[in-house]
Amino acid sequence: MKTQFEIPGALVEKLHAAKHVVVLTGAGVSAESGVPTFREAQTGLWAQYDPQELATPQAFRRNPQLVWEWYAWRRELVSQAQPNPGHLALVELAKFVPQLTLITQNVDGLHQRAGSQNVVCLHGNIMETKCFDHDHPISHWPPTEAVPPTCPTCGSLLRPNVVWFGESLPMMALNTAVSAADSCDLFLAIGTSALVHPAASLPLRAVEHGATLVEINPQATPLTRWADFTLNGPAGVVLPALLKRLQA
Ligand code: OAD
Repeated sequence: MKTQFEIPGALVEKLHAAKHVVVLTGAGVSAESGVPTFREAQTGLWAQYDPQELATPQAFRRNPQLVWEWYAWRRELVSQAQPNPGHLALVELAKFVPQLTLITQNVDGLHQRAGSQNVVCLHGNIMETKCFDHDHPISHWPPTEAVPPTCPTCGSLLRPNVVWFGESLPMMALNTAVSAADSCDLFLAIGTSALVHPAASLPLRAVEHGATLVEINPQATPLTRWADFTLNGPAGVVLPALLKRLQA
């Protein structure tokens, strides 16, 4: 992984001057906590599956047991994982700027566990469960051998409360994210491949409205050509370094 980066003085000045900073995170921010990203090769038990082919309503209809078990595995990973220095630096960054809106595509809750407030979750929460047919939120169900279990209210299959490909994002979260992107003066895109819309459109909206775009990612993405500053390195290293420069 490429870790060559330097923090430009001009970026530090922009951050000092910013009134509203928006941060959009993707799976890369949790990679250093041991939660695998979606578009990098999986290892072990699940190496033969493409996550993009498991995270759809069609996949669930076809093979609910497989999809439930894949999420159960991810849920277990997430519950063992701890926030990393990247998550923690974002908590501190919020204290440095007059307003910070943290938007995440991640369903792992690690920003919240690190201490970030008012996190805008675009893709749901892997720790929550709902039913497939009616979206009934379900926190408990009777012990059963069935995989997946069924909804105690309507009998349909239970599924994780995450947004799958082809499904709508939670409207309130999306509205908050769009208006923050349209009104911020600096937008940080961190650890996202910027391939999944509408989340991937947010940085471009910010640029159209005149914001400075900063990307933190060891790899280039479709956003890179629009970025005013690109920091090529892992979020858990780059964000603490950025914070240190701000505090200097
Ligand atoms: P991806 O897996 O598509 O992309 C992860 C990005 O993180 C890549 O660009 C990597 O280069 C970068 N990356 C890896 N390690 C990193 C590190 N240590 N620090 C910083 N960046 C790092 O994940 P997302 O962009 O989050 O949606 O994917 C978007 C959505 O697609 C997900 O929310 C999920 C997925 O399917 C749904 O499930 C609806």
